[in-house]
Amino acid sequence: MTIKTKEFILRPYKMTDAQDVARNINDMAIIRCLALNIYPYKLKDAKIFLKRHLLEEKKKNPDSQSFVIEINGEAVGSIGLHKIVKGHKASIGYWLAKKYWGQGIMTKVVKLVTAFAFKQYKLKRIYARVYLFNMEN
Ligand SMILES: CC(C)(COP(=O)(O)OP(=O)(O)OC[C@H]1O[C@@H](n2cnc3c(N)ncnc32)[C@H](O)[C@@H]1OP(=O)(O)O)[C@@H](O)C(=O)NCCC(=O)NCCS
Repeated sequence: MTIKTKEFILRPYKMTDAQDVARNINDMAIIRCLALNIYPYKLKDAKIFLKRHLLEEKKKNPDSQSFVIEINGEAVGSIGLHKIVKGHKASIGYWLAKKYWGQGIMTKVVKLVTAFAFKQYKLKRIYARVYLFNMEN
């Protein structure tokens, strides 16, 4: 599934995204907000993640679906639906390279992906886990 807008493309991950993912996610401001305990995040970490992820999505009924956020040919972020229970619920998580923060990009991405997910998986609820330290922001 690919969603194209003027600002960005949402598309499935490819193994060749490893370098962009490693470069853009390797930022403590991002890592501390994700359920990822890896820092520094290196190319090999991105390759391990992508291999696992691509295998999971090949399954007949994958329990997750992710999109890469591509801008100018670069993978600059991602958004994923996880723990998908069709007809019921899924969780959502996302990150974006810092150079694109504060431009309303993720607001648009979340709207598109939640609209897609409610329809595709006939969901009643999409939820996100939050860190209490986000109160600081
Ligand atoms: C969260 C993140 C994706 C926001 O992307 P973005 O494109 O800059 O977001 P937007 O420009 O669409 O801003 C959306 C709103 O969220 C707010 N926001 C951004 N980061 C926030 C944070 N950590 N805590 C609380 N609010 C936050 C913005 O101030 C903005 O509010 P406004 O509409 O009232 O101005 C980006 O900061 C990021 O990758 N953070 C690290 C990973 C992360 O926290 N992921 C979310 C949890 S899974």
